Amino acid sequence: MHKVDIDLVEMTLDVMKYAINRITKTTPELGKPKKEEELKRLVGETITPDGIGGEKAFQLFKDVLIKATVPIDHPRHLAFVPASPTRASVMFDLVTSASNIHGAYWMEGAGGIFCENEAMKWLVSLTGLPEKAFGVFTSGGTAANLSAMVTAREYWRKNKEGSSGKGLVITSSGAHSSIKAMAKVIDVDVVLIETEDRMTGNHLQQKIDFLNQDQRKRLFAVIATGGTTNAGIIDDLDGIGEICQKQKLWFHVDAAYGGGALAADSVRHLFKGIEQADSITIDPHKWLFSPYDCGAVIYRNPQLAKEAHSQEGSYLDIFNDEDAEGFNPSDYQIQLTRRVRGLPLWFSLAMYGTDKYKWAIERGIELANLAADIIGEYPNLELVRPPSLSCILYRRKGWGPEDYKKWTYKNLSEGFALVTPTKYTVNGIYETVARFCFINPDTTLEDITAILDTMK
Ligand SMILES: Cc1ncc(COP(=O)(O)O)c(C=O)c1O
Repeated sequence: MHKVDIDLVEMTLDVMKYAINRITKTTPELGKPKKEEELKRLVGETITPDGIGGEKAFQLFKDVLIKATVPIDHPRHLAFVPASPTRASVMFDLVTSASNIHGAYWMEGAGGIFCENEAMKWLVSLTGLPEKAFGVFTSGGTAANLSAMVTAREYWRKNKEGSSGKGLVITSSGAHSSIKAMAKVIDVDVVLIETEDRMTGNHLQQKIDFLNQDQRKRLFAVIATGGTTNAGIIDDLDGIGEICQKQKLWFHVDAAYGGGALAADSVRHLFKGIEQADSITIDPHKWLFSPYDCGAVIYRNPQLAKEAHSQEGSYLDIFNDEDAEGFNPSDYQIQLTRRVRGLPLWFSLAMYGTDKYKWAIERGIELANLAADIIGEYPNLELVRPPSLSCILYRRKGWGPEDYKKWTYKNLSEGFALVTPTKYTVNGIYETVARFCFINPDTTLEDITAILDTMK
């Protein structure tokens, strides 16, 4: 299986040809999902005792399976938080795989971890955190949030009297679902500030004042959002940070989506206060144009993360030995064995320079503002709220949830676009509305107009 023969060389060339083709394509085909039974019928048995051969498996992948996927970098994919990995980062993802680097410990992965750390230094510099702040790349925002919450909880346990019970965190209803999901994982309660709009310091103070004695004793962290997923709203990080400092609460900022915009001069001021955070999540696989999967968690005091996450085991002792000096990424987040997933970001940053990143991020913000202007020209469309970061919410007058659903499915089934509805509270009503999130700088005004035309 591991022997290199002529067939393997040919297969590798075939795979490379495919990769080159895909990397250089700006508008990949927008595939559509198929039912599992249909895919099974089309490809048959692929896992067999003798193997079906690389050529056949690859052909099935190209002819059938890839066509049942929606490429995240399609310029008319404006749903979720889409993605748009740079060509350089995708190319270097291949190199990352081919290099087989273990990214847990410096002793094994020094060269790769060095590159990750160079990219991380730039990321940390965007946050305004003090010099000794540092972070690691994770599998995504969920893992980054979890790693930060574990660190916060462990710090609380060690430093607060009477902290042996169940912990409690405060966040807003605009926070990402992963915050509530990860709170479940670590078994802490979540008290929600009921606002999808900007959570402010006043909101937080009122909520803290409202807690009963037991809850106040269990409260150890506040989680603010630096760019809500639904609407791009940035909480009052300054006001919230100040209260956290006064009340000695861990301050986490989930900037998984919005964090890339720290590099954009036009909106950087909106993040004022992020420099007070104890930990920050930023997902390079969202607005820093990295391939999946690449999140990041940054700590004001990385030593606290190390105390919470370092794994011990006799077979690991040698990697933690004093003589094996160097930075061990596995000490700072939940995962042990890890891919050096920051490597594609490093290469891309090194190749293009950080100014290109600034430009591409500013373009996403500009596209949201331009789309808002274009929406104003359609009599049957109206904005639900002004654009925020690269998100806009708007409504098609007269449409209900079913209409939005049909619109999504029609555009997808025609291989035209992936645009989806969401819900947002307007004047106390939880309304179904349309949402665009712009990441891909290759999205054009023609793309936007063509999508809006499908709502006539
Ligand atoms: C604000 C925010 N936090 C966390 C996440 C979860 O990130 P991931 O999907 O990379 O785990 C997302 C994903 O959209 C997000 O927007």
